[in-house]
Amino acid sequence: MNKKSIKDVDFAGKRVLMRVDFNVPLDKSLKITDDNRIQAALPTISYVLNRNGKLILMSHLGRPKGEKRPEFSLKPTAERLSELLKVPVKMLDDCIGGKVKQAASNMDDGIVLMLENLRFHEEETDNDPKFAKELASLGDIFVNDAFGTCHRAHASTEGVTHYLESASGFLVEKEIGYFQKVLTGAEKPFVFILGGAKVADKIPVIENMMEKADSILIGGAMAYTFLKAKGVDIGSSRVEDKMIDTVNKILDKAKSKGVDILLPIDHIVTDCIETANHVNPTPDENIPVGWIGVDIGQKTIELYKERLLQAKTIVWNGPVGIFENDKFATGTKTLAIAIANSGATSVIGGGDTAAAVSKFGVANKMSHISTGGGASLEYLEGKALPGIAALSDK
Ligand code: 3PG
Repeated sequence: MNKKSIKDVDFAGKRVLMRVDFNVPLDKSLKITDDNRIQAALPTISYVLNRNGKLILMSHLGRPKGEKRPEFSLKPTAERLSELLKVPVKMLDDCIGGKVKQAASNMDDGIVLMLENLRFHEEETDNDPKFAKELASLGDIFVNDAFGTCHRAHASTEGVTHYLESASGFLVEKEIGYFQKVLTGAEKPFVFILGGAKVADKIPVIENMMEKADSILIGGAMAYTFLKAKGVDIGSSRVEDKMIDTVNKILDKAKSKGVDILLPIDHIVTDCIETANHVNPTPDENIPVGWIGVDIGQKTIELYKERLLQAKTIVWNGPVGIFENDKFATGTKTLAIAIANSGATSVIGGGDTAAAVSKFGVANKMSHISTGGGASLEYLEGKALPGIAALSDK
């Protein structure tokens, strides 16, 4: 990356305004259920503290849409960070204003300041220049380590860079390093697995990955639109009829480029996703009237596994079934284990795919699990991420 890195910066005595992505899942009692994103920011946070920087952290949590709602407070993340760092983390009750400014300019040594949820102000997502300037006035230098939010041009990711020297943190560098490697220098064969619900969201990534991968294995609800486009019966499975023409064009393009797009050749189906009282395998790619596809079937698992075990590079974005329900989880679980044992460089998109590999106990066997769902998808689409593009050049 040709952008300024934190390794290029002298932090001693400086106020370091750092964007992190502490948008972590919370349960009903506001306890963090997965602290991966906080853990992932620790190397950058410790690096700055060890070099005597005065650290001011900022993040969003959820989508409170400009309203100050206590259930979206970053307080639980400040407490967790303090436990992990073994350093006091002082939680402020806003991210701008006189009190915040005072706290940031009179920081005691050895503590970290955590600003309250940026999205309590709609100016954050509007990338309002006045708001960005006010945030920037809290620091002497800006560090972006919020990879998961780099696809958003918000005040705290893009706006602040107009006012401060801006560098990337280690997490951002690590994420970009892995995605860059698979996009520009992947060892072949390169297999891309794509799942998830909506075809419309995944067309740009298929288009870009067709230029890079040798095989694209499709699963999840999006597979039924592909199958319908090929004239297969899909029963009552989810379908996006408006996308049929687009999907046909994609299939033709893949054929002309010699890229294999593999679709399920059998399925697990149910008559009701919620109750899942009746769950059956199908003998082939067709789904009977009244039945809904919820996972790939055994023959598809074998077909996909064979490709994965030959691969030298695997990128996976999106589960191939509704893995949250154990009755529909076999496909996603078996592929996760196959990837873990494949010996290939494996890069896992964030969000649901990261949750799946962690649920099936193979997270530590993957080369890289991204902390960004939307951000990793946009990077794989070949788009520039505004939060990265805005950083100072080296
Ligand atoms: C994420 O969870 O993908 C990031 O934190 C970005 O959140 P957002 O989609 O609400 O911008």
